[in-house]
Amino acid sequence: MNTIIMTGGTFGLGEVAAQRLSASPDTRLIIGGRETRLPLELARLDSIKQFARQVLDTLGKTKINALVLNAGLSFPTAARSMDGYETTFAVNHLGHYLLLRLLAPSLARNAIVVLTTSNTHDPMFSPVAPFPFVDARQLAYYNLEKGSHGSIAFESGFRAYATSKLCNLLTARAFAASTEVNARRLRVIAYNPGYTPGTGLGRNLPAGALPGPAMALSPYFAEVMRIQAGEVLADLALGRIVPPKGRLYASLVRGELTWPEPSELAQSDKVAQQL
Ligand SMILES: NC(=O)c1ccc[n+]([C@@H]2O[C@H](COP(=O)([O-])OP(=O)(O)OC[C@H]3O[C@@H](n4cnc5c(N)ncnc54)[C@H](OP(=O)(O)O)[C@@H]3O)[C@@H](O)[C@H]2O)c1
Repeated sequence: MNTIIMTGGTFGLGEVAAQRLSASPDTRLIIGGRETRLPLELARLDSIKQFARQVLDTLGKTKINALVLNAGLSFPTAARSMDGYETTFAVNHLGHYLLLRLLAPSLARNAIVVLTTSNTHDPMFSPVAPFPFVDARQLAYYNLEKGSHGSIAFESGFRAYATSKLCNLLTARAFAASTEVNARRLRVIAYNPGYTPGTGLGRNLPAGALPGPAMALSPYFAEVMRIQAGEVLADLALGRIVPPKGRLYASLVRGELTWPEPSELAQSDKVAQQL
């Protein structure tokens, strides 16, 4: 039995991935979400601890074969998480970091960990570059700026999002280099699904924030992209797609999956340790 724990499996590209994972033979998929049987609110550290406890109780002696940390948000409606942290940082990075730490001891030998990041972590590809630092305290207490209609201003919200995705990559790299990963021969992947319209991620974007061509994409092509992004995520978690030796960053852009180097900042061990 292949046991998989997943966040962000209820909507968007994660919903496609979850369907593919549960359809794969001998697989038991447990999804943590705000409206799932095992509830998980990543904006609350106590909810994450409770979810981890429930997962471990449910599994008993069974080990986890894959951990898929895919949930994410941008332009949050509440600027602060329940614990008082900037919400993008809290949900996309801090919550997943805690969940990874809590579940890591229960990963099976050769287990796979996938963290969904984004190529917006790289200033070369992002419309708004991430912060050039990842000081956790500054990011945790960063004040998102409001735009003219009361929603989060585009630049401020996007910078927080891109930085949180940089944090995902740094987490993946630091975890991959740890002794526990090497001892148990775990596989760690940071996955960029690329621009995927038709998910819920942009639901709180300020009106007219995205450039024209992106908005003009037909619903049919948007759905094709969502399905592909979700299927690749599932195949990474199932071990059907194997990273080339020494590579960890899987990047899906315009339908093509490659394994490039992440941004310069994402490659810095010092920055990862600081975070
Ligand atoms: N779409 C893109 O263009 C794109 C590009 C690069 C990377 N990504 C990344 O891909 C991942 C999936 O994004 P998506 O586009 O599929 O977005 P989406 O449709 O908005 O789905 C987000 C998922 O995350 C869950 N989630 C959000 N906030 C949560 C919270 N506080 N606690 C627990 N679960 C929470 C949602 O669950 P609920 O059902 O509870 O809302 C949902 O399942 C994210 O990590 C995103 O950063 C997306």
